[in-house]
Amino acid sequence: MGKKSKSVSNSIVTMTELVLPHHTNQLGNLLGGQLMHWIDICAALSASRHAQRVCVTASVDRIDFLHPVKLGDVVTLNAAVNRVFNTSMEVGVEIFASNHVKDTRVHSNSAFLTFVSVDEKLKPVKTFEIVPETEDEKRRFDNALRRRETRLKTRKNVY
Ligand SMILES: CC(C)(COP(=O)(O)OP(=O)(O)OC[C@H]1O[C@@H](n2cnc3c(N)ncnc32)[C@H](O)[C@@H]1OP(=O)(O)O)[C@@H](O)C(=O)NCCC(=O)NCCS
Repeated sequence: MGKKSKSVSNSIVTMTELVLPHHTNQLGNLLGGQLMHWIDICAALSASRHAQRVCVTASVDRIDFLHPVKLGDVVTLNAAVNRVFNTSMEVGVEIFASNHVKDTRVHSNSAFLTFVSVDEKLKPVKTFEIVPETEDEKRRFDNALRRRETRLKTRKNVY
């Protein structure tokens, strides 16, 4: 590994999707499972951009559905690595729903996922450190440690 640390900005991935009829339920709202699929892909791309390796989803730690997303809305997902631990990293995804006709934009969802950087045999591999630079990045970096501690404690109690 040549470079030891990388910036958070290097890990940013933005994905845009249009909500079509086959993405919705009977009320014309975006299906939660469809959104989860997009979140997983966007977060995996962010993790692999940082690690320069295949990264697998180890856990979906939290997804909040703050506002319904409607048929015809444009969904923008912004993912970035919040913090790297050893072989694992927390990725945060913020989702915005826009309607170009009505000229509206809402923060519809937030999610935190843990990815593990692996080799060809699915063996976890240590990845680059990450350096938070902005105030927001520093806040997310600090909070990610707190969330990891909770996650590890919960896993111990569950399994
Ligand atoms: C994720 C996986 C590679 C971890 O392998 P493992 O042998 O359990 O590895 P370890 O116990 O050494 O843990 C490695 C890291 O993963 C983290 N980890 C393992 N299981 C985790 C879980 N359920 N949630 C969050 N983090 C987890 C550990 O905390 C550790 O992090 P660290 O190195 O930063 O401290 C393995 O459990 C796996 O392959 N799971 C299936 C992944 C998958 O199929 N995802 C869906 C498709 S992408």
